[in-house]
Amino acid sequence: MKVPNHIAIILDGNGRWAKRRGMPRSYGHIVGCNNLEKMCDEICEMGVKYLTVYAFSTENWKRSADEVKVLMNLFRKYLRRVEMKAHKNRMKVRIIGDPSALAPDLQEEIREVEEASADYDQMYFQIALNYGGRDEIERAVTRIAEDASNGKLPEGRVTGEIFERYLDTAGIPDPDLLIRTSGEQRISNFLLWQLAYTEFYFTDVAWPDFHKQDLIEAIEKYNGRDRRFGNAK
Ligand code: IPE
Ligand code: IPE
Ligand code: MG
Repeated sequence: MKVPNHIAIILDGNGRWAKRRGMPRSYGHIVGCNNLEKMCDEICEMGVKYLTVYAFSTENWKRSADEVKVLMNLFRKYLRRVEMKAHKNRMKVRIIGDPSALAPDLQEEIREVEEASADYDQMYFQIALNYGGRDEIERAVTRIAEDASNGKLPEGRVTGEIFERYLDTAGIPDPDLLIRTSGEQRISNFLLWQLAYTEFYFTDVAWPDFHKQDLIEAIEKYNGRDRRFGNAK
């Protein structure tokens, strides 16, 4: 099976998955987090070069304080485990989004995992944490304006190529396949610029239940598509 170069996943449905089992939403997040660890290994083994996952959006702060706390504690533990996985899979980990709103120890954890994995290139794993596509664009434009006024940018048009250098995903090719689990068919502020020509795959399967076989199904569907980039075929 030919695998896409870059897969992006909106990990959705943890809460509903838990509710259906009469459990608190936090249980869904724990199982979803374990599933991410397993799936990341599977995806690496399949030979996918780039994986980007949406773990916490800039809008997710609107959830109850309890749920936000549970999620932040999970990220703390998860980032430590990801560091071990990074060594095992020789993968470079990057957190995209705005870390400045996160607790200082979490920011430290992020710096650590990024530094520890900086030299790997077997796979590139991006985790979107406090990420919003609009927020990313606002931050990019702000830095472009600063650099322009300091004379660090050539005068004239800010081309797409220049603009991309200011995005959190700088240097990473755009996703080929976007998967969203659990039935919703929207992008919820994920990678607004980068998804311009990405193929979308939506499934009703909730994230904690999304396993290797579901991923293979998504990839097979993707492989059967007639990809276009505005050209005629
Ligand atoms: C995805 O599951 C995880 C995060 C957004 C952090 P949800 O928490 O959105 O679960 P549902 O969509 O409410 O079921
Ligand atoms: C998108 O899921 C964000 C993440 C998966 C991290 P949400 O569950 O927060 O999105 P909406 O609210 O259904 O659009
Ligand atoms: Mg959701």
